Order: sequence, then C-alpha cells, then structure tokens
Amino acid sequence: MSLNYQLQPATALLGDIRVPGDKSMSHRSIMLGSIANGVTCVRGFLQGEDSLATLNAFRRLGVTIELAGAGEVIIHGVGREGLRGAQGELNLGNSGTSMRLMAGLLAGQSFDSTLIGDASLTKRPMRRVTEPLTHMGAVIDSSCSGTPPLQIRGGVALRGIDYRLPVASAQVKSALLLAGLYAEGTTRVSEPAPTRDHTERMLRGFGYEVLTEGASMSLKGGGELSGCDIDVPADISSATFFMVGALIAAEGEVTLRHVGINPTRIGVINILRQMGATIELFNQREVGGEPVADLRLTQSRLHGIAIPEDQVPLAIDEFPALFIAAAAAEGETVLTGAAELRVKESDRIAVMAAGLTTLGVTHRVTEDGIVIQGQSAWGGGTIHSQGDHRIAMAFAMASLRAKAAITITDCANVATSFPGFVNLATECGLPLQELFA
Ligand code: S3P
Repeated sequence: MSLNYQLQPATALLGDIRVPGDKSMSHRSIMLGSIANGVTCVRGFLQGEDSLATLNAFRRLGVTIELAGAGEVIIHGVGREGLRGAQGELNLGNSGTSMRLMAGLLAGQSFDSTLIGDASLTKRPMRRVTEPLTHMGAVIDSSCSGTPPLQIRGGVALRGIDYRLPVASAQVKSALLLAGLYAEGTTRVSEPAPTRDHTERMLRGFGYEVLTEGASMSLKGGGELSGCDIDVPADISSATFFMVGALIAAEGEVTLRHVGINPTRIGVINILRQMGATIELFNQREVGGEPVADLRLTQSRLHGIAIPEDQVPLAIDEFPALFIAAAAAEGETVLTGAAELRVKESDRIAVMAAGLTTLGVTHRVTEDGIVIQGQSAWGGGTIHSQGDHRIAMAFAMASLRAKAAITITDCANVATSFPGFVNLATECGLPLQELFA
C-alpha cells in the first residue's frame, strides 16, 4: 500500500505552530548521550523514523534509552568503551545521517557491526566516509559501488588524520570527528565551505574539547564525555515548508515557534530574503548552545535571483521547497553548485524537475542545478515523490498556487522527518487528504 496526498487548490496558509525537533540534533543527542558517562536528558527530540532508527540502533548496542513522553528521551550513557556488539544487522531505514555518522563511531569499537538501510539508502554513496575512515585505520566493506551494506570490523586501532573534505558535508565531517574520539592523536577536518556545526557544538556541551580554527575542526582522541541536558529546537528544515507556503499563498501568515537558527542552517532565510520575502525573527535566545527564535512570515512578492553558491551548503535540505518558491517568483531563479542534491534521498534536481513539468512550470535542468522561470500560477496533476519526504512536502505547498488538484504519490516517508505534517498543514488551512492506494 502506498500513501498518497491529494490536495485541492488552496489560497490561504495561516497559523501559529511549532514544527517537530531538529533531525540533525536529535541523531547526535542519541549518539553522544550513549557514549557519555551518566544520564543525558533530551527535550524536543524528533520522534521521526530517522532519529528513531538511531535510537533503536543504540538500544541494540546495549544502551538503555527511555522515551519518556512527547519528545522527552532519557539516555543512560554507557561511557566511551561501554557499547556492546549488536546481534545481527543494524537497520537504519532511510537515514543517511544515521549510517554515515555511525560508520565513524562504530569504526573504533571492539566489536564488528553491519549497517543496512532501505532501497533509497542502499543506493547512496558511502565512500565519502569509508575512504577517509580507512586512512584512519578502519576496516569497512561496502558493495563494489561503495554503497551499503557496510561491514565494519571491530578491534582495529584508529589513528588521527588531517583530512580536507572534497565536498562540503557535515555528515562526513561528523563521521570523522566521531571516529576521532576513538583514535590515537588528533583528528583534523577542513571543509571547503561551512556546513552545519551541531556535532562540534554538542561535543562541547558534553564537555569534550573541539577546536575550530578557520575552516578546520579538530579534536584529540581518548577523552570522556559527560552526560548533559539537551533542548532540541524545532527543525528549520521542517519549518521551511510552512515558510514557503506562507510566502506564496494569496493569504499567508505563519508564525513558527522555537526554530533553530544556527548560522550554519539559515541559508533558507538568507535566500528567501534576497528573493524579497518578509521574514521577521523575534524572541531570539540561546538554548543549550544553539540559537533559537520565533519566525513570522507573511505573504510576499518574490522575485527570482541567482542563488549565491556560498548559501548552498547552508540550505542543502531546503531546495525542494525553495524550488517551489522560485516557481512562484517573478522572473528567473538560477541555482548552481548544487550537485549534492543528486545524491540525497532521491536525485532532488531530477525529481523536482519532473514535478515542475507536471505542473507546467518552465525550467531547465543543469548538471549542478536548475534554472526556474517563475509564474503566478500553475496547473495540477500527479507528482511522483519517489519516496522522498522533502519532495512530497514541497509539492503539498505547491497547491497554494495550483489551479487544479495535485496528487502526490509515495508520501509515507514524510514520517522520517516530519511526523504530524498533515495535521499541522491542515490546521493552517491546506486542503490535504491522505489516501491509501
Ligand atoms: C546532515 C547533513 C546534510 C543534510 C542531512 C543531515 C547532518 O548532509 O543533507 O539531511 O545531520 O549532518 P551532507 O552532510 O551529506 O550534506
């Protein structure tokens, strides 16, 4: 059975909502809490399938983790050397973050591990982590094309390396830093452009020293982490769908509460403001080492821009929704330097382009981006999300400019990052129905 979304043409998106917790931080809270000494209490944890895959994997590695209530998680850390080998494979579902970060963390353990995932994850490139981990002394087997399953040999000695990332990737940076906790000497990673820095911030929150010098981050292996309290803000990547919806609706005003506005995540705000969006940030505060604010977005006249390439890694998960904003803007929007979009949960350039074609939005695909010609309204039709959660949610917002009904297929994976999306969207006025086909 496949879950489809059916949307009638809509005109208004109005609401005052809090979207679920940040996915990146939720993963990291489980990983670091598990290998810390003492108890870690997490509030605002994302109970989506991806972060629950990480949680379940660490339970199988011998960690007691309580899911206390709505978004409350208590992790009874086992200490740096306290994880135990799991019986059988660890299935990480759709979650690339789980697999890449855990590859680093498990490479330095005394036991073997096998990591598997669903059909989408099984196609995703893992050499970007296995190659540098191998330089550190790790022994990891993958398929001959470098994709999962990953078989990680335990009981090998890791040594720190100095590694320059060939692509700007927080997942690769984090995998190496996590392996570095178990390596002899210093592990240093340099990035070609800034990427999300939640691993560095959270490690410091657990009392572990991480040095940031310009574009390089480094840590020394062999230290201990101390359990702590973590308050996970709402995920700006999930908030993005409502941001774009409010901006393009005929009648749009949405307030989003307690959103994480870490400078390495606000590419979407910078890009939308450059397109003419009215975005107000208020109640700015810091929560557990991460900046947070409430956001208010009101319907705006957007115009096309050339998206600055330095903003691409800072908005990497937001492009499906940004393509819809570009489709609704006056003039042309040009995206370059975004080849990474081709190796996400789907090839997001190709899958978004196919959906834009269905709606009748003029565009031209390039190797590392897309050129979108904005228009004031478009048609409807059946969009294939290819099981990609962010594609499904982006096209749900497209109903705010559609002249005919939109059906989006294969939407079950919305639950990987945004449980409750349909309820919040309908609460804000989106005429969205779930259909099981
Ligand atoms: C993530 C990093 C990004 C992002 C992913 C989550 C993370 O991937 O797309 O959804 O939590 O570190 P890359 O680092 O591969 O760009």
